[in-house]
Amino acid sequence: MFKIKKEISSIFHIPKYWQNSLRIDSLVNFSPMISFFLELLRPSSICEIGANRCENTIFLMESTEDVGTSIDVVDLKISRECRGIESCSRINFFEMPSLQYLKIKNSSELYIIDGDHNYQTVSSELQIIAQNNECKCIILHDTGWPAAYRNFYYDRCQLVVEEELDSNNLLSPFENNIGRGVLFTSHFSSHEGGERNGVRCAVENFLETSIRTWVVWTIPSILGLTILIDSSLLSKDQMRCLDIFTQYKKIWDEFLSGLEINRLMLLQALHDAGAEWDNNQAYIKEQNARLQKAHDALQRAGAEWDKNQAYIKEQNARLQKAHDALLRAGIIDSGAD
Ligand SMILES: C[S@@+](CC[C@H](N)C(=O)[O-])C[C@H]1O[C@@H](n2cnc3c(N)ncnc32)[C@H](O)[C@@H]1O
Repeated sequence: MFKIKKEISSIFHIPKYWQNSLRIDSLVNFSPMISFFLELLRPSSICEIGANRCENTIFLMESTEDVGTSIDVVDLKISRECRGIESCSRINFFEMPSLQYLKIKNSSELYIIDGDHNYQTVSSELQIIAQNNECKCIILHDTGWPAAYRNFYYDRCQLVVEEELDSNNLLSPFENNIGRGVLFTSHFSSHEGGERNGVRCAVENFLETSIRTWVVWTIPSILGLTILIDSSLLSKDQMRCLDIFTQYKKIWDEFLSGLEINRLMLLQALHDAGAEWDNNQAYIKEQNARLQKAHDALQRAGAEWDKNQAYIKEQNARLQKAHDALLRAGIIDSGAD
Protein backbone atom coordinates (compact mmCIF):
# COMPACT_ATOMS: atom_id res chain seq x y z
CA MET A 1 0.00 0.00 0.00
CA PHE A 2 1.24 3.49 -0.85
CA LYS A 3 0.92 6.30 1.65
CA ILE A 4 1.01 9.93 0.52
CA LYS A 5 3.42 12.11 2.53
CA LYS A 6 1.44 14.13 5.04
CA GLU A 7 3.17 17.37 3.97
CA ILE A 8 1.62 17.09 0.51
CA SER A 9 -1.59 15.20 1.20
CA SER A 10 -3.62 18.42 0.84
CA ILE A 11 -2.65 18.57 -2.85
CA PHE A 12 -4.80 15.51 -3.58
CA HIS A 13 -8.42 14.82 -2.84
CA ILE A 14 -8.19 11.12 -2.05
CA PRO A 15 -11.63 9.54 -1.64
CA LYS A 16 -12.39 7.44 1.43
CA TYR A 17 -13.02 4.35 -0.72
CA TRP A 18 -10.61 3.48 -3.53
CA GLN A 19 -8.13 0.82 -4.56
CA ASN A 20 -4.85 1.92 -3.02
CA SER A 21 -2.69 -0.60 -4.87
CA LEU A 22 -1.32 -1.28 -8.34
CA ARG A 23 -4.63 -3.02 -9.16
CA ILE A 24 -7.19 -0.83 -10.90
CA ASP A 25 -9.99 -3.32 -11.52
CA SER A 26 -12.49 -2.50 -8.79
CA LEU A 27 -15.63 -0.48 -9.19
CA VAL A 28 -14.79 1.07 -5.84
CA ASN A 29 -12.51 3.49 -7.73
CA PHE A 30 -15.72 5.13 -8.94
CA SER A 31 -17.00 5.63 -5.37
CA PRO A 32 -17.14 9.47 -5.69
CA MET A 33 -19.59 9.21 -8.60
CA ILE A 34 -21.57 6.33 -7.12
CA SER A 35 -21.80 8.26 -3.81
CA PHE A 36 -23.34 11.18 -5.68
CA PHE A 37 -26.11 8.93 -7.07
CA LEU A 38 -26.62 7.14 -3.73
CA GLU A 39 -27.13 10.48 -2.01
CA LEU A 40 -29.44 11.73 -4.74
CA LEU A 41 -31.62 8.62 -4.93
CA ARG A 42 -31.29 7.20 -1.38
CA PRO A 43 -32.41 3.76 -2.63
CA SER A 44 -34.07 1.41 -0.16
CA SER A 45 -32.68 -1.60 -2.02
CA ILE A 46 -29.59 -2.29 -4.14
CA CYS A 47 -28.62 -5.36 -6.12
CA GLU A 48 -24.91 -5.75 -6.84
CA ILE A 49 -24.09 -8.28 -9.56
CA GLY A 50 -20.43 -9.37 -9.33
CA ALA A 51 -18.75 -8.61 -6.01
CA ASN A 52 -15.44 -10.44 -6.26
CA ARG A 53 -13.49 -9.36 -3.13
CA CYS A 54 -16.32 -7.12 -1.92
CA GLU A 55 -14.25 -3.93 -2.14
CA ASN A 56 -17.23 -2.10 -3.65
CA THR A 57 -19.77 -3.94 -1.47
CA ILE A 58 -18.11 -2.63 1.70
CA PHE A 59 -18.30 0.90 0.31
CA LEU A 60 -22.02 0.39 -0.55
CA MET A 61 -22.73 -1.10 2.86
CA GLU A 62 -21.04 1.70 4.81
CA SER A 63 -22.42 4.55 2.70
CA THR A 64 -26.05 3.45 2.96
CA GLU A 65 -26.10 2.90 6.72
CA ASP A 66 -28.26 5.99 7.44
CA VAL A 67 -30.90 4.93 4.86
CA GLY A 68 -30.80 1.29 6.00
CA THR A 69 -30.60 0.10 2.39
CA SER A 70 -30.85 -3.66 1.88
CA ILE A 71 -28.15 -5.00 -0.45
CA ASP A 72 -28.38 -8.21 -2.46
CA VAL A 73 -24.96 -9.42 -3.56
CA VAL A 74 -24.99 -11.87 -6.48
CA ASP A 75 -21.87 -13.73 -7.57
CA LEU A 76 -20.99 -17.10 -9.05
CA LYS A 77 -18.69 -17.59 -6.05
CA ILE A 78 -19.04 -15.73 -2.77
CA SER A 79 -15.45 -14.98 -1.84
CA ARG A 80 -13.67 -15.32 1.50
CA GLU A 81 -13.59 -11.51 1.77
CA CYS A 82 -17.39 -11.36 1.33
CA ARG A 83 -17.84 -13.92 4.12
CA GLY A 84 -16.26 -11.30 6.39
CA ILE A 85 -19.33 -9.03 6.05
CA GLU A 86 -21.95 -11.78 6.21
CA SER A 87 -22.99 -10.67 9.71
CA CYS A 88 -24.41 -7.38 8.37
CA SER A 89 -28.19 -7.96 8.46
CA ARG A 90 -28.76 -5.61 5.49
CA ILE A 91 -26.69 -7.79 3.16
CA ASN A 92 -27.97 -10.97 1.48
CA PHE A 93 -25.67 -13.13 -0.58
CA PHE A 94 -26.86 -15.10 -3.61
CA GLU A 95 -24.28 -17.55 -4.91
CA MET A 96 -25.64 -18.07 -8.43
CA PRO A 97 -25.49 -16.60 -11.95
CA SER A 98 -27.13 -13.18 -12.26
CA LEU A 99 -29.79 -14.39 -14.71
CA GLN A 100 -30.88 -17.11 -12.28
CA TYR A 101 -31.11 -14.52 -9.47
CA LEU A 102 -33.11 -12.10 -11.62
CA LYS A 103 -35.64 -14.83 -12.39
CA ILE A 104 -36.37 -15.29 -8.68
CA LYS A 105 -35.95 -11.67 -7.54
CA ASN A 106 -36.15 -8.43 -9.53
CA SER A 107 -37.35 -5.68 -7.22
CA SER A 108 -34.36 -3.47 -6.31
CA GLU A 109 -34.32 0.28 -6.84
CA LEU A 110 -30.70 0.43 -7.91
CA TYR A 111 -28.65 -2.17 -9.79
CA ILE A 112 -24.91 -2.40 -10.12
CA ILE A 113 -23.81 -4.65 -12.98
CA ASP A 114 -20.25 -5.94 -12.85
CA GLY A 115 -20.59 -9.69 -13.42
CA ASP A 116 -19.85 -11.32 -16.76
CA HIS A 117 -18.59 -8.77 -19.29
CA ASN A 118 -20.17 -9.91 -22.52
CA TYR A 119 -23.01 -8.85 -24.79
CA GLN A 120 -25.21 -11.89 -24.15
CA THR A 121 -25.15 -11.63 -20.37
CA VAL A 122 -25.35 -7.84 -20.06
CA SER A 123 -28.17 -7.53 -22.64
CA SER A 124 -30.22 -10.16 -20.82
CA GLU A 125 -29.53 -8.54 -17.44
CA LEU A 126 -30.62 -5.12 -18.75
CA GLN A 127 -33.74 -6.42 -20.42
CA ILE A 128 -34.91 -8.23 -17.28
CA ILE A 129 -34.05 -5.34 -14.94
CA ALA A 130 -35.88 -2.84 -17.16
CA GLN A 131 -39.09 -4.81 -16.55
CA ASN A 132 -38.85 -3.88 -12.86
CA ASN A 133 -40.73 -0.59 -12.49
CA GLU A 134 -39.13 0.06 -9.09
CA CYS A 135 -35.71 0.32 -10.73
CA LYS A 136 -34.60 3.95 -10.94
CA CYS A 137 -30.96 3.50 -11.71
CA ILE A 138 -28.57 1.01 -13.30
CA ILE A 139 -24.82 1.44 -12.92
CA LEU A 140 -22.59 -0.63 -15.19
CA HIS A 141 -18.85 -1.15 -14.87
CA ASP A 142 -16.63 -2.03 -17.87
CA THR A 143 -18.32 0.08 -20.51
CA GLY A 144 -14.85 1.50 -21.32
CA TRP A 145 -11.73 -0.14 -22.73
CA PRO A 146 -11.17 -3.09 -22.98
CA ALA A 147 -14.67 -4.63 -22.55
CA ALA A 148 -16.64 -1.82 -24.24
CA TYR A 149 -16.58 -3.44 -27.68
CA ARG A 150 -15.04 -6.84 -26.89
CA ASN A 151 -16.77 -9.72 -25.11
CA PHE A 152 -15.06 -11.15 -22.03
CA TYR A 153 -16.27 -14.41 -20.52
CA TYR A 154 -16.04 -15.57 -16.91
CA ASP A 155 -18.59 -18.27 -17.15
CA ARG A 156 -18.92 -19.98 -20.50
CA CYS A 157 -20.93 -22.91 -19.05
CA GLN A 158 -24.07 -20.75 -18.76
CA LEU A 159 -23.81 -19.44 -22.33
CA VAL A 160 -23.74 -20.64 -25.89
CA VAL A 161 -20.51 -19.07 -27.15
CA GLU A 162 -20.21 -19.39 -30.90
CA GLU A 163 -17.47 -16.88 -31.59
CA GLU A 164 -13.73 -17.48 -31.73
CA LEU A 165 -12.07 -16.73 -28.39
CA ASP A 166 -8.59 -15.80 -27.33
CA SER A 167 -7.00 -15.98 -23.88
CA ASN A 168 -3.73 -15.08 -22.16
CA ASN A 169 -2.94 -12.44 -24.71
CA LEU A 170 -1.98 -8.81 -25.09
CA LEU A 171 -4.65 -6.25 -25.92
CA SER A 172 -3.83 -2.73 -27.02
CA PRO A 173 -6.08 0.30 -27.50
CA PHE A 174 -3.56 1.75 -29.94
CA GLU A 175 -3.27 1.32 -33.74
CA ASN A 176 -0.42 -0.76 -35.20
CA ASN A 177 0.61 -2.25 -31.88
CA ILE A 178 0.79 -5.89 -32.92
CA GLY A 179 2.60 -7.93 -30.29
CA ARG A 180 2.37 -5.11 -27.75
CA GLY A 181 -0.25 -4.23 -25.15
CA VAL A 182 -1.60 -5.11 -21.74
CA LEU A 183 -1.84 -8.77 -20.74
CA PHE A 184 -5.32 -10.20 -20.09
CA THR A 185 -5.62 -13.75 -18.83
CA SER A 186 -9.38 -14.30 -19.22
CA HIS A 187 -11.23 -15.57 -22.31
CA PHE A 188 -12.21 -12.83 -24.73
CA SER A 189 -13.41 -12.26 -28.24
CA SER A 190 -10.57 -12.47 -30.76
CA HIS A 191 -11.69 -9.20 -32.38
CA GLU A 192 -12.95 -5.80 -31.27
CA GLY A 193 -16.16 -4.20 -32.54
CA GLY A 194 -18.89 -5.55 -34.78
CA GLU A 195 -22.29 -6.82 -33.75
CA ARG A 196 -23.13 -8.15 -30.29
CA ASN A 197 -19.61 -7.53 -29.04
CA GLY A 198 -18.91 -6.00 -25.64
CA VAL A 199 -20.62 -4.41 -22.65
CA ARG A 200 -21.06 -0.96 -24.17
CA CYS A 201 -22.47 -2.45 -27.35
CA ALA A 202 -25.07 -4.21 -25.16
CA VAL A 203 -25.93 -0.92 -23.40
CA GLU A 204 -26.22 0.97 -26.71
CA ASN A 205 -28.52 -1.64 -28.25
CA PHE A 206 -30.59 -1.81 -25.05
CA LEU A 207 -31.08 1.98 -25.08
CA GLU A 208 -32.17 1.91 -28.73
CA THR A 209 -34.99 -0.48 -27.95
CA SER A 210 -35.97 0.40 -24.37
CA ILE A 211 -39.28 2.22 -23.96
CA ARG A 212 -38.21 3.80 -20.66
CA THR A 213 -36.92 7.37 -20.36
CA TRP A 214 -33.28 6.74 -19.51
CA VAL A 215 -30.81 9.56 -18.99
CA VAL A 216 -27.27 8.29 -19.60
CA TRP A 217 -23.80 9.29 -18.39
CA THR A 218 -20.61 7.49 -19.31
CA ILE A 219 -17.29 8.11 -17.56
CA PRO A 220 -14.47 7.93 -20.16
CA SER A 221 -11.97 6.09 -17.99
CA ILE A 222 -10.09 2.79 -18.28
CA LEU A 223 -12.68 0.02 -17.70
CA GLY A 224 -15.33 2.74 -17.66
CA LEU A 225 -18.64 3.35 -15.96
CA THR A 226 -22.12 4.02 -17.33
CA ILE A 227 -25.04 5.27 -15.26
CA LEU A 228 -28.64 4.99 -16.48
CA ILE A 229 -31.40 6.81 -14.63
CA ASP A 230 -35.09 6.67 -15.46
CA SER A 231 -35.90 10.39 -15.42
CA SER A 232 -39.64 9.74 -15.19
CA LEU A 233 -39.10 8.48 -11.62
CA LEU A 234 -37.24 11.59 -10.40
CA SER A 235 -38.46 14.77 -8.76
CA LYS A 236 -37.76 18.22 -10.22
CA ASP A 237 -35.09 18.85 -7.54
CA GLN A 238 -33.37 15.58 -8.37
CA MET A 239 -33.41 16.48 -12.07
CA ARG A 240 -31.87 19.90 -11.26
CA CYS A 241 -29.00 18.18 -9.37
CA LEU A 242 -28.46 15.90 -12.35
CA ASP A 243 -28.27 18.90 -14.71
CA ILE A 244 -25.47 20.35 -12.57
CA PHE A 245 -23.70 16.97 -12.58
CA THR A 246 -23.98 16.87 -16.40
CA GLN A 247 -22.52 20.37 -16.81
CA TYR A 248 -19.48 19.64 -14.61
CA LYS A 249 -19.02 16.23 -16.18
CA LYS A 250 -18.45 17.78 -19.62
CA ILE A 251 -15.50 19.76 -18.24
CA TRP A 252 -13.95 16.78 -16.48
CA ASP A 253 -14.46 14.28 -19.33
CA GLU A 254 -11.75 15.77 -21.57
CA PHE A 255 -9.32 16.19 -18.68
CA LEU A 256 -9.94 12.59 -17.57
CA SER A 257 -9.62 11.20 -21.12
CA GLY A 258 -6.13 12.70 -21.48
CA LEU A 259 -5.07 11.22 -18.14
CA GLU A 260 -6.52 7.83 -18.98
CA ILE A 261 -4.88 7.56 -22.40
CA ASN A 262 -1.61 8.47 -20.72
CA ARG A 263 -2.25 5.79 -18.07
CA LEU A 264 -2.84 3.25 -20.86
CA MET A 265 0.44 4.24 -22.52
CA LEU A 266 2.19 3.78 -19.17
CA LEU A 267 0.51 0.43 -18.58
CA GLN A 268 1.53 -0.74 -22.04
CA ALA A 269 5.09 0.56 -21.53
CA LEU A 270 5.21 -1.36 -18.23
CA HIS A 271 4.20 -4.57 -19.99
CA ASP A 272 6.73 -3.86 -22.79
CA ALA A 273 9.46 -3.43 -20.16
CA GLY A 274 8.35 -6.70 -18.54
CA ALA A 275 8.54 -8.54 -21.89
CA GLU A 276 12.00 -7.02 -22.53
CA TRP A 277 13.11 -8.17 -19.07
CA ASP A 278 11.83 -11.71 -19.79
CA ASN A 279 13.71 -11.74 -23.13
CA ASN A 280 16.88 -10.54 -21.43
CA GLN A 281 16.53 -13.21 -18.75
CA ALA A 282 16.34 -15.88 -21.47
CA TYR A 283 19.48 -14.44 -23.14
CA ILE A 284 21.31 -14.26 -19.79
CA LYS A 285 20.36 -17.91 -19.07
CA GLU A 286 21.71 -18.96 -22.48
CA GLN A 287 24.99 -17.07 -21.91
CA ASN A 288 25.30 -18.58 -18.42
CA ALA A 289 24.94 -22.08 -19.89
CA ARG A 290 27.72 -21.27 -22.42
CA LEU A 291 29.95 -19.93 -19.64
CA GLN A 292 29.34 -23.07 -17.60
CA LYS A 293 30.33 -25.23 -20.60
CA ALA A 294 33.56 -23.22 -21.09
CA HIS A 295 34.28 -23.46 -17.37
CA ASP A 296 33.80 -27.26 -17.43
CA ALA A 297 36.13 -27.58 -20.47
CA LEU A 298 38.77 -25.49 -18.67
CA GLN A 299 38.50 -27.70 -15.59
CA ARG A 300 38.92 -30.81 -17.72
CA ALA A 301 42.01 -29.25 -19.39
CA GLY A 302 43.39 -28.34 -15.95
CA ALA A 303 43.00 -31.93 -14.72
CA GLU A 304 44.75 -33.17 -17.89
CA TRP A 305 47.57 -30.65 -17.32
CA ASP A 306 48.02 -31.88 -13.73
CA LYS A 307 48.07 -35.47 -14.96
CA ASN A 308 50.71 -34.57 -17.61
CA GLN A 309 52.84 -32.76 -15.03
CA ALA A 310 52.99 -35.91 -12.88
CA TYR A 311 53.96 -37.98 -15.94
CA ILE A 312 56.66 -35.45 -16.94
CA LYS A 313 58.02 -35.51 -13.36
CA GLU A 314 58.18 -39.31 -13.42
CA GLN A 315 59.93 -39.31 -16.80
CA ASN A 316 62.39 -36.67 -15.55
CA ALA A 317 63.20 -38.85 -12.54
CA ARG A 318 63.78 -41.84 -14.85
CA LEU A 319 66.01 -39.74 -17.11
CA GLN A 320 67.98 -38.55 -14.09
CA LYS A 321 68.41 -42.15 -12.96
CA ALA A 322 69.67 -43.22 -16.40
CA HIS A 323 71.97 -40.24 -16.54
CA ASP A 324 73.47 -41.10 -13.12
CA ALA A 325 73.99 -44.73 -14.17
CA LEU A 326 75.80 -43.63 -17.33
CA LEU A 327 77.97 -41.32 -15.25
CA ARG A 328 78.84 -44.09 -12.83
CA ALA A 329 79.72 -46.41 -15.73
CA GLY A 330 82.02 -43.68 -17.09
CA ILE A 331 80.17 -43.69 -20.34
CA ILE A 332 79.60 -40.01 -20.04
CA ASP A 333 81.33 -37.51 -17.90
CA SER A 334 79.70 -34.99 -15.71
CA GLY A 335 80.65 -32.23 -18.16
CA ALA A 336 82.38 -30.35 -15.33
CA ASP A 337 86.04 -29.39 -15.93
C1 LIG B 1 -14.88 -7.87 -12.12
S1 LIG B 1 -15.42 -8.84 -10.83
C2 LIG B 1 -16.37 -7.80 -9.85
C3 LIG B 1 -15.58 -6.77 -9.10
C4 LIG B 1 -16.35 -5.98 -8.07
N1 LIG B 1 -17.60 -5.48 -8.57
C5 LIG B 1 -15.50 -4.82 -7.60
O1 LIG B 1 -15.73 -3.75 -8.11
O2 LIG B 1 -14.58 -5.00 -6.80
C6 LIG B 1 -16.59 -9.86 -11.58
C7 LIG B 1 -17.30 -10.82 -10.64
O3 LIG B 1 -18.48 -11.26 -11.28
C8 LIG B 1 -18.68 -12.61 -11.03
N2 LIG B 1 -19.48 -13.14 -12.15
C9 LIG B 1 -19.07 -13.45 -13.40
N3 LIG B 1 -20.10 -13.86 -14.15
C10 LIG B 1 -21.20 -13.78 -13.38
C11 LIG B 1 -22.58 -14.07 -13.57
N4 LIG B 1 -23.04 -14.51 -14.75
N5 LIG B 1 -23.41 -13.88 -12.53
C12 LIG B 1 -22.96 -13.44 -11.33
N6 LIG B 1 -21.68 -13.14 -11.09
C13 LIG B 1 -20.81 -13.31 -12.10
C14 LIG B 1 -17.29 -13.21 -10.93
O4 LIG B 1 -17.32 -14.37 -10.12
C15 LIG B 1 -16.50 -12.06 -10.28
O5 LIG B 1 -16.44 -12.19 -8.90
